[in-house]
Amino acid sequence: MTGSETGFAELWESLLPVGRTPAGYRRYSWTPADLACRAWFAEAAGARNLPVETDRNGNLWAWWRGLDSGAPAVAVGSHLDSVPDGGAFDGPLGVASAFAAIDLLRERGFTPARPVGVTAFTEEEGARFGVACLGSRLLAGAIEPAAAAGLRDGDGISLAEAMAAAGLDPADLGPDDDRIAGLAAYVELHIEQGSALDGLGAAVGLAAGIWPHGRWRLEFAGRADHAGTTWIADRHDPMLPFAATVLAARAAAAGGALATFGKVIAEPGAANGISSAVRAWLDARAPDEATLDTLITEVSAAARTAAAEHGVALDVRRESFTPAVSFDPALRDRLAAILSPASAGAAPNGGGIPVLPTGAGHDAGILAARLPTAMLFVRNPTGVSHSPAEHADLADCLAGVTALAAVLADLAGP
Ligand code: GLV
Ligand code: MN
Ligand code: MN
Repeated sequence: MTGSETGFAELWESLLPVGRTPAGYRRYSWTPADLACRAWFAEAAGARNLPVETDRNGNLWAWWRGLDSGAPAVAVGSHLDSVPDGGAFDGPLGVASAFAAIDLLRERGFTPARPVGVTAFTEEEGARFGVACLGSRLLAGAIEPAAAAGLRDGDGISLAEAMAAAGLDPADLGPDDDRIAGLAAYVELHIEQGSALDGLGAAVGLAAGIWPHGRWRLEFAGRADHAGTTWIADRHDPMLPFAATVLAARAAAAGGALATFGKVIAEPGAANGISSAVRAWLDARAPDEATLDTLITEVSAAARTAAAEHGVALDVRRESFTPAVSFDPALRDRLAAILSPASAGAAPNGGGIPVLPTGAGHDAGILAARLPTAMLFVRNPTGVSHSPAEHADLADCLAGVTALAAVLADLAGP
């Protein structure tokens, strides 16, 4: 392996123990695991003489200034936080690859003509405070700072409190137009969260766009009672309309959308009691906004009908939403031209680099509303993600680094 390839492998290995549990990764923002990820970022940047700053929203930036001609910068990176029991690659692969791409360019004697920033955005998964891509939303002005500051985790700790405990001033939260104006483009490399590249025999692909998606919180409020003494006819059991709603969501998504209840809390949680309330989160995604609207209307109507049948109150509230994203076509075409099939490991069929749509959300999708953004995907042979089974082979990760370096050489070159 070359120096930069060994450098990637070492960088990657050094992050693997951080936030690892027997069931996967738990790297929630502003927890000790996240602070250890931030320390890893600072160390990786320090080892490369890249000064690090934390922006007003807690996002990390490491700068390779090069000739610093005053031209706007090119940013590359991803995020370091994880879903509950997540995999190692979703997020960190983009950050480690960004550092390794700089190593590779330096190895080749390249000096950027404009600054290159390596970024790690905060709370991309929304696993702690509930809103995905929170750091990039704040940066881009896509969420009210006061609303973000007041978001609370499962223990009732607010984002403002968590950030203050980490030494940041939550009063600084909010849009950062100067920083956005200083960026010419943002390119995020990410493990593919599907197996399309594997099917095509390609190590690296480009993103076309992101499906519109969001999270809705449904609260079914019933009446707590004794499981052994309350006749069926006398119950106001919120679990039953919830169960009907799960099935309705599956039926509503059958035409090509996606609907998932991945988190549910039954209160108070007694094995021998009828629940007083069931709180559940619906994650819904679709190829277009009209289909997504129809899905949400159908699921909400089914939830209302089932709640009424069981004498249960229902509250449905949208917690976050990302409209359809189409990545900048000019930037995407430029990247497609740079990434010849040979350097990207694409199928030897004479075709160009694959360009794929995705249902997964990303910071690049949020920033797309403010500046040209693009994404590179690295092959994931099983297609599994948000799970410890998520995987990319080292050779494919290195192909991703090579592709990212080629992109940087072009976008930040003379
Ligand atoms: C992030 O991974 C998302 O798509 O929710
Ligand atoms: Mn993810
Ligand atoms: Mn991700």
